[in-house]
Order: sequence, then C-alpha cells, then structure tokens
Amino acid sequence: MSNAQIQAAQALKSVARNAQMKTYIQQSAELYPFLLQVSKRFITGESSDEALATGNSLLAKGYAVSLEYIGENTASIDECQQAKNEFLNLIEKMGTVSMKQTVSLDLSHIGLAIDAALTLSHLIELAEKAKRYDITLMISMEESSKTDEILSIYKKVSKQYPNIGITIQVYLYRSDQDIKELMHYPGKIRLVKGAYEESSDLAMIRSKELDERYLKFAKLLMAAHHPLSIATHDEMIIKELKKDQSFHQPNVETEMLYGVCSNLMKNLKEEGYHTKVYLTYGKDWYLYLCHRIAEYPENLYHAVVDMIHAPGKIDRAY
Ligand code: FDA
Repeated sequence: MSNAQIQAAQALKSVARNAQMKTYIQQSAELYPFLLQVSKRFITGESSDEALATGNSLLAKGYAVSLEYIGENTASIDECQQAKNEFLNLIEKMGTVSMKQTVSLDLSHIGLAIDAALTLSHLIELAEKAKRYDITLMISMEESSKTDEILSIYKKVSKQYPNIGITIQVYLYRSDQDIKELMHYPGKIRLVKGAYEESSDLAMIRSKELDERYLKFAKLLMAAHHPLSIATHDEMIIKELKKDQSFHQPNVETEMLYGVCSNLMKNLKEEGYHTKVYLTYGKDWYLYLCHRIAEYPENLYHAVVDMIHAPGKIDRAY
C-alpha cells in the first residue's frame, strides 16, 4: 500500500470506532440510504430473510455459510436482549429448514459492553438452541481491550458447548500464547489477520512477517488436527497452505467475506476445498463497511460509484 492509502486506511479505522458518527448516520434520513447502497456490496440486506435467501443459494452451489446479525457495543440491557432474540430467531429459522451451518456474533452485541455475566447467560441460551439444531456458533474477536474478557467467556463455555468456536487475530503479539492455550479447548479456531486499529506495541501491521506468522499458526493447528477456519483472502497464504495435505482435512475450511474475492473462493470450491462464505445482515453495518473499505482502498472507488448510482446487479463469481 502507498503512504496515502495507509493513512486513509488508518483514518477509516479510527472513524469506524466513532459512536457519534455511527448514530448520526443511522438516524440520518438522507445519509443512511446513500450509504446503505454502498454497504450492499458486502452485506446481504437488512433482514434475516435476505441473509437466509443468499445463504440458501450459496448452499445449493456447494458452499457452507456463516450468518451474522451485525452489530457491536450494544449500550442498554433492553437492546442486548433484542439482539439476543434476533439471534434466537435466526437459529430457529435456520433450524426449521435444516440449515446446519454457522452463526457468527460479536459478544459486545449481546452484552459485553455492559456486563460479562449477562453476556455469558445470553451466549449459553444461544448455544443451547444452536446445539438442538446442529448449528455452530462462532465468536468474533473485537478490539484488544476486550480480548481477555472474550477469551475468558469462551473458555467458560467451550467444554460444555463444543459447538462454539473462537476467532483469533494473528496481528496481536499475545496470540502466540493464546493459541497454545486454546488448542486445549474443543471449539473451532478461526484465524484472521485482524481488522481494528491497534497500537504498535500490541499488534503488527500488514507485512511479510504477519503473513509468515499466519502460516505458522495455521500449520500448527492443522498439524494438531484442530478444527480450523482459514479466514483470509490472501492468495499467497492460501497457495502456501495448499502445499500441505492437511489443508484438505474435513475439519479445515477456508472462509471469506461475502462480496470479497469471490473468484478465489469459487476456484477453491471447484478444487474440492471446504469453502464457507460469511454473510452479514442488519442495519448496524457502519463499522463493518469502514473496515472493508480500509483494508482494500480500491473499494473507495466502488463506494463512490455505488453512492451515486445505486448498484444494479453486483458481479460476484460464486
Ligand atoms: P489482507 O488484508 O492482507 O488482504 C489480502 C488481499 O485480499 C488483498 O490484497 C486483496 O486482494 C484482498 N482483500 C482483502 N480485503 C479485501 C476487501 N475488503 N475487498 C477486496 N479485496 C480484499 N477481523 C477481526 O478483527 N475480528 C474478527 O472477528 C474477524 N472476523 C472475520 C471473519 C472472516 C470470515 C473473515 C474472512 C475476516 C474476518 N475479519 C475479522 C477481518 C480480518 O481481520 C481482515 O481484516 C480481513 O480478512 C482482510 O485481511 P486478509 O486476511 O484478507 O488479508
């Protein structure tokens, strides 16, 4: 990336965390629909039915899917309960059509910004219902200030609910140690590079060293036959992992965000690898959209076009 692109990415990541800006956009009758057009490149829609429809069409083509009702940092108990209820409804809808797939969530969406005990009880309720329908839950990883709490909640539930997995950000220096500990828990580990703006004493920037670290963690988990999601769009990392026979293991999957690198995903599926598309829905797409633009500045050009001319049919290779 050029210096200008790096600065633009940092600016977007810091504005992504600006709660006032997020509220302003969500409440603005003019701005919200404009930016919704832009977000449609990456989200399936505002309702679970739209996400389920996209999910079903991807399943019919041979992909697995994970679905997320998007949101984070929910500020009141009522809203946390509403979010939890939406997840329960989503699981129910998936269960009734035997969609034995994954539901992804941020713990701060269902309570972490208020109280760890509330979060734990909501997570257990979701895991119980998911278990009944053979659905897995995947916990996302948020800012580093929340990592300890997120891991602590995961460790409390993991052994009783092996249908819960956890996301680890390779860019955090602490992840070396965290992965060693998490290998003693049964849940799937989803490896991501990391999307948040973090200080340089806590996290690495995008670099060759980061890519090597990703490969090191992935190979460690594959060698241990630990359930693993390779959640990256990085073609070089995937090319390198393909050299390892264990990349074909049934408990190893490649997971990519909806609307990102769909060609690469399609090729992997056609080569017989386990591929999963990560689908999001809801109205709270502000942070998600900022991150998608920040990590690939060319998306800014798409954003400008989508804002001015509502996108017609977006070209996706799936
Ligand atoms: P990198 O950013 O180095 O990009 C490699 C290449 O991929 C780019 O050169 C480009 O070709 C392509 N690419 C990447 N992003 C693109 C985009 N938006 N548009 C178009 N092309 C793009 N993060 C986090 O902190 N917590 C979490 O819980 C999650 N959860 C999560 C789940 C899943 C399934 C995925 C795939 C990713 C996440 N992430 C995440 C996001 C993750 O941390 C990371 O920011 C993105 O995956 C982008 O990083 P890459 O690994 O793709 O590499």
